[in-house]
Amino acid sequence: MRAPPSCEEVSSNLSWDVAQQELGYRPGDPINIGWMCSDRICQLGLANKLALLWEDYQGTKKQFTYDNVRIFSNTFAEFLTDLGIQPGERVCLFLDRVPELYIGFLGILKTGAVAQPLFSAFGDESLLVRLADAGTCAILTQKKHLYKIRKIRNALPNLRHVIVVDADSASLQEHETPFAMERAPQVEHFPAYPTMAESPSVLHYTSGTTGQPKGAQHVHYSIIAQYLTAKWVLDLRPDDIYWCNADPGWVTGTSYGIIGPWSNGITQVVLDSGFNAEKWYEFIEQYGVTVWYSAPTAIRLLMKEGSEVVRKHDLSSLRHLASVGEPLNPEAVLWSQEVFGRPFHDTFWQTETGCIVITNLPGMPIKPGSMGKPFPGITASVLDPKTYEPGNRAGASGLIALRPGWPSQIRGYWNNPKGFEAKFRNGWYLCGDRASIDRDGYFWFMGRDDDVINTGGHLVGPFEVESALLECPAVAESAAVAKPDPVNMEVVKAFVTLKRGFQPSDDLELDIMNHIRKRLSPLAMPQEIEFVNSLPKTRSGKIVRRILRCKEFNEPLGDLSTIMED
Ligand code: PRX
Repeated sequence: MRAPPSCEEVSSNLSWDVAQQELGYRPGDPINIGWMCSDRICQLGLANKLALLWEDYQGTKKQFTYDNVRIFSNTFAEFLTDLGIQPGERVCLFLDRVPELYIGFLGILKTGAVAQPLFSAFGDESLLVRLADAGTCAILTQKKHLYKIRKIRNALPNLRHVIVVDADSASLQEHETPFAMERAPQVEHFPAYPTMAESPSVLHYTSGTTGQPKGAQHVHYSIIAQYLTAKWVLDLRPDDIYWCNADPGWVTGTSYGIIGPWSNGITQVVLDSGFNAEKWYEFIEQYGVTVWYSAPTAIRLLMKEGSEVVRKHDLSSLRHLASVGEPLNPEAVLWSQEVFGRPFHDTFWQTETGCIVITNLPGMPIKPGSMGKPFPGITASVLDPKTYEPGNRAGASGLIALRPGWPSQIRGYWNNPKGFEAKFRNGWYLCGDRASIDRDGYFWFMGRDDDVINTGGHLVGPFEVESALLECPAVAESAAVAKPDPVNMEVVKAFVTLKRGFQPSDDLELDIMNHIRKRLSPLAMPQEIEFVNSLPKTRSGKIVRRILRCKEFNEPLGDLSTIMED
């Protein structure tokens, strides 16, 4: 077994070239993530190694070797090809965390089509916006989610196939096709489509301040960065049992819940069930989880349950812990050191970066509250928000920026070249976050540089919430902003003015909340609605969320010269 790496060893030996060599990729050759994560691992002699140990909330268990993953993803790929799906077309995965989600993802990539994972808790409006923008041609789903697709199907002329992984034809309507991965005739050989480094692979939708969510477009070459960062940041070793809490509807669940571990030939466990501290600890104990990639909200929820429940379980298998998605508060690092005997290592990245870019590498002294340092191969800085020049002195703060060109950087936003261009200034990619850098080169997160709401590690776009609020008959105008929350860090709060004839009431508040929950998702649902007579606006009539947000956070309001008085 590999000895724990020293930080210096990691830093001096790492480069994207090393990852290319280890993955057997030569520039100019085809590269296909679906093949890399299954066939290649079997060719390395690991066909019988377990790739996935899966359990759901009812305790149903399944397991899949790498050879099973190879054959089932071939079976998916052949089925999709027989339906006429072409390379480059978008195929959506709208599934709970069932095995078909993980294996179907590889199957789609093997055909050369683009995988578009969407969070299965999305309501019909969230789904519609993303499927329409991507011109998605097929969607893989479960019976329980069909009603949402049926509602919007007529508005999606490009959607040719609705494929249901757990239904027989009797319960389906016209143009809905059943496909049972484990019962379909198994396909031993499927020639993976020879996608090239720059061929599109995954389309993840992410929220911005303005407009509808943007489709972040990744390419097959991204695996170079996902493989290397998974190996070194998550410290994956051949005998590990790895658990990533994230849902593949979000980028953590694909980059580090599928591609990272499987390109490294690691055994991973998946629990398709919501948060429950007791259940989670049982799961770690039962499967002997060694590496755990989680998120600050989950850690805060575990902290709330206390240390007693931890002590009821033997969690000594845990060797390395990491976290992503929101600021990891120092208390969480200290608590995990106390109860698990190991600190959570913070990692910072985004849908757009595709891989971890700033991190606490194993072996590096952790400064609780800091995100760590740039991963070797990543050049990161903080820029002055006016000049976009990097601040080089110790203690400099500004906009987190990265030098473009790492393998898993998105290549564009789908249908939105202007939005993509706007992310670059002065030769730097801007993350949309602010941080400071200390004299040892550690980055300290300060906050987002826009109005996007980060609730429990999930980004919610205020525009999407406001558009859905305006669908309510009573709502005249609205603004959605972040409100502080002890567990989720932020939750959505909506400010609403009512149309003539409507009065504020608790019932109306509940109606509006429910509307958002159903149309968008439980995450986007405002936890509070404040009825107001007017909203702060610029002289040109644009609603200024910043002022509302500052009030929620008790922060100074800043320059108000452009704001109209009531
Ligand atoms: O604001 C930062 C926050 O989450 C954003 C990226 O969200 P998303 O694209 O959904 O990807 C989430 C998981 C990769 C960032 O712009 N964020 C992510 N990691 C951290 C963080 N904020 C503070 N500390 C982190 N470690």
